[in-house]
This record gives sequence, C-alpha cells and structure tokens, in this order.
Amino acid sequence: MRPAFGPSVPLTPPLYPSAVYAIPDLDALDDIYEKRAPGFIYARDGHPNATSLADGINQLHAAAWGVITGSGMGAISAAVLPLVGQGERLVAADNLYGKSAKLCRELARFGVTTEFVNPCDLAAVETALGRGAKAVLVETISNPLCRVCDLPAVAALSRRHGARLIVDNTFATPVLCRPLQMGADFVMESLTKMIGGHSDVTLGYLGGSDTALSVAAESAVSTFGLAANPFDCWLTERSLDTLELRMRAATATAAAVAGWLGAEPVVRRVVYPGRADHPDHALAARLLPAGFGHMLCFELSDRDAVNRFMRAATQVPFAPSLGHAHTTCSYPDGTSHRFEPMEAKRKQGITTGLVRLSVGCEPLEVVRRNLGAGLAAVGSA
Ligand SMILES: Cc1ncc(COP(=O)(O)O)c(C=O)c1O
Repeated sequence: MRPAFGPSVPLTPPLYPSAVYAIPDLDALDDIYEKRAPGFIYARDGHPNATSLADGINQLHAAAWGVITGSGMGAISAAVLPLVGQGERLVAADNLYGKSAKLCRELARFGVTTEFVNPCDLAAVETALGRGAKAVLVETISNPLCRVCDLPAVAALSRRHGARLIVDNTFATPVLCRPLQMGADFVMESLTKMIGGHSDVTLGYLGGSDTALSVAAESAVSTFGLAANPFDCWLTERSLDTLELRMRAATATAAAVAGWLGAEPVVRRVVYPGRADHPDHALAARLLPAGFGHMLCFELSDRDAVNRFMRAATQVPFAPSLGHAHTTCSYPDGTSHRFEPMEAKRKQGITTGLVRLSVGCEPLEVVRRNLGAGLAAVGSA
C-alpha cells in the first residue's frame, strides 16, 4: 500500500485522509464489494490506514481477521451487537471496566439480559452459562484490581455451552497475553491505552480466529458508525514498533514499584498480580509468563490522603486513562467506576483510598522519586 517514487518507496506508511475513493466503473465497484479485487469505496466501511493497522495487530495476536474502531468501547460494541438480540442473554464479568459494565446494562433496553458473575469462580460461570447465553465478556486482567481470568478454562466452558467468548485484553496487551491462542472467539484492545502508548489517539481493535465472525463485526462497524479516523490509525501504527519494548520496560518497573510501595508506611495495601499476596498470583504466573503488567493499585487511608498525594506528586499526573509513556495515576472510585453502584464497587475492593497507577517507561529511580514526593505529603499530614 506504499506508493513508489521511481525505484524508491517511503520507509513509513502514508496517511490517506480521503473519505471516499474514485472508482473507474460499475464493474470495478462490484469487484471491490464482492472482494474479487482489493480496493476501498467509503472510509466508514474501510480505509488503507485502518487495514494496515489491523494487519499489524492481527500479527501480534495471530488473528485471522481484525477491525479498527473509533474507541475501545466501539470494539466491544462491534463484538456484542451482532451476537445478542431480544430475549437473549449475555454473561459478563462482575469486575469489568465501568463503561463496559454500563454497556451490558444498557442492552436491557433492547431486551437483552446480562448476568454478571465473578469470572474467577468457574462454577458460577458454568451455572450462568447453563441458563443459556450467546456471549461471555471478560477482561484478561481486570480494571482496576488486576484480577486475572483463567481464559483457557472460561473458553472451554463457553464452547461447551455454545457461547462466544469476548476478551478485553487492554491491561495485558498481546505482549503478555494472546487470548485467541487460549480459545477466545474475539479479542479486543483499547488502543487508546498501552498500544497507542502516547495518550494522543482514541481507538479500538477487535480481532478473531474464525473469519466467519468477521462479516458481522465489520458490518456493525459500518452500520453503527464505529469506524476509526485515518490519522489516529496512522499514529498508532507507528506505536506498534515500540510496543514490546515499552510494555516490557513498564512491566519490569511496575514489578519493582509494587515491591517498593509495599514497604511504604502510608500505603495500606498494594494490588499487583506479581505479588505473592495477590489472590490470582499463581494463575497469573501460569497464564502470563512474560510478566504481570504495567498496572497496579495502592491504597491510602482515604480520599483526603489521595488528594494530598496527587497535589504533591506533580510528576505523576492524575490523568484518568492508562498506558501513557510516562507514569500516571487515576482514581477508580471517581473516574473509571464513577457511575457503578456503590455496593458493587466496595464489594470489588474499590475504596475511597484506592489509587490506580499506570507505570510508564521512565527509569525505576525516577518513578520512585516522583511517587515518593506524593507519599511524603501523605505522611506529613
Ligand atoms: C479495560 C478497558 N477496556 C475498555 C476501555 C474503553 O476504551 P476506550 O476508552 O478506548 O473506549 C477502557 C477505557 O478505559 C478500559 O480501561
């Protein structure tokens, strides 16, 4: 897809902002629509920058097909909307990102019931599936408390009960986990996070192994207007070259930070799957051999303590997202899970003192110094 200039071609991919493509005649149009010839017609249905980015992520996930959407939520919608209809059921993890849980609840308006279950309780998953379900939605590593899902086991249960398994792999990225290789039917990524890696795009990816499932997903992207814009795709393709390097560096630093934070007197609890005290440590060690990820949480006494930490830790911006190249922090109770029912939040362990950390690529010493400035202010109150 790179234009040639004499014998030379550009080293980096071109950007194609065109919203529409000129086609020589009706026969050529039919050939493109029927996929007898390559080509594009209208950017909402597909464009070169989305195709090129999807190809790159397909390789990382060993996926047979993939589509790019205008956000991570768009990717979840593109998976779920074609699968469920009026009177049908969805089984969803009870520890999803807040907006993903909201999406499931919103489906009730269209006659779709969602049963929320603890994805770590395989017997509960099986019971819910036994009541009948078209699809199961889980996160590889949950947001924010990093619960790890036994994907091979949930995939086997889903298959046995005829449900499609959709895995949100945003916290893990394909560097740590490839859910399709563990039996999932769909993998989705919020490219807004670590894969984009620089907090300058809002995008999603949905991929799968079975090409029979791609037609409905692509149709949902076009019909519901979930398509991505070319510039964001172009920027994100650039990020793929450094993804593995960034993810491995951030993961190694996060593991060290999790150990260090645990010894800080003002920190009441550290949540990281790489720690022996995490409830899923053994499962995470088995499922994620390349590391436990760049996300962790730590708990301070209360909201006031979090405010003191944020005001003093000026080099750890409070930015309610994750996956930036620099370390940032967020506050699940007031951001990602702001609109979740209080009881559900507290049951999961999302307290008023909980801080979520997205560790970046700075040297460990820099991250420790920057966090230390915030913790000192908590301690001196
Ligand atoms: C785990 C997870 N999945 C999905 C999303 C949604 O992604 P986006 O913001 O790109 O729509 C988010 C956003 O924070 C997330 O954390």
